[in-house]
Amino acid sequence: MAFFIGPPVGPFLPMDDLNHLFAHVPAVIAHRGANRRAPENSLEAFRLALELGAHAIELDVMLSRDRVPVVIHDTRVDRTTDGTGRVQDRTWAELRELDAGSKFSSAFRGARIPQLQQVLEEISRRAWVNIELKNYATRGDRLEQVVVDMVERMGLQRKVLLSSFNPLSLGRAARLAPDVPRGLLTMPSMPIFLRDGWFAFVAKPQSYNLHLDQTNAQALRAAHARGARVCAWTVNDPVDAVRLAAEGVDGIITDEPEVILGAIGQETQRG
Ligand code: G3P
Ligand code: MG
Repeated sequence: MAFFIGPPVGPFLPMDDLNHLFAHVPAVIAHRGANRRAPENSLEAFRLALELGAHAIELDVMLSRDRVPVVIHDTRVDRTTDGTGRVQDRTWAELRELDAGSKFSSAFRGARIPQLQQVLEEISRRAWVNIELKNYATRGDRLEQVVVDMVERMGLQRKVLLSSFNPLSLGRAARLAPDVPRGLLTMPSMPIFLRDGWFAFVAKPQSYNLHLDQTNAQALRAAHARGARVCAWTVNDPVDAVRLAAEGVDGIITDEPEVILGAIGQETQRG
């Protein structure tokens, strides 16, 4: 599929702007942490990702009923915890009681849904954090404000990348905190205007976080020509990783950081 990245809307921030994140190119970004070896989006999975050598982690964030930003992928707690119901209907005090480890493995019984702040406090000391704003089902909840307030309060503007499939959400973040970088997520199954990044002029991304099937030399050239980075997701096959690294991809979002690091060992020196 030919991939067209957005309309010609003038220069975005120069690529140098993200040099502080992409000290290693391609950066290996652990998707929901090392989620094949520990429960996704848990502190255990994030710690393990760093032990395995990942340069960054990706996580998903949404708001509890009392507006605490919590790290979980699904709108409901059912798949990953011993509870039922929607995250948005439960307070932080209720969410923190749930066992978020046993469904993965009895070895992780007692793992908890973390707050965003807990993850940022611990992980940002050692790696950067790709924060996916997961308010697709709760648009208008002002998650962007809560997250950028936290990032600014903690002084982590240069340790995070905000990401979203919703360009309007990134546009809100850009207005609230222009100095916190943004990654526009796309995937082939979305409507064409989202798939092909037509609203990049709203999101003003410094990175295009493209689905693996959209990441090719043409897309990389187009993004780099406008001074943006490209991170591909979700890349678990070493053959894909080697091809992407050779084509100049800036980041690889993966469930298996150790496999990808092993595959691209040579290329990690380029950054
Ligand atoms: O950052 C890429 C990826 O996280 C987007 O999809 O559903 O795994 O959050 P998902
Ligand atoms: Mg995600």
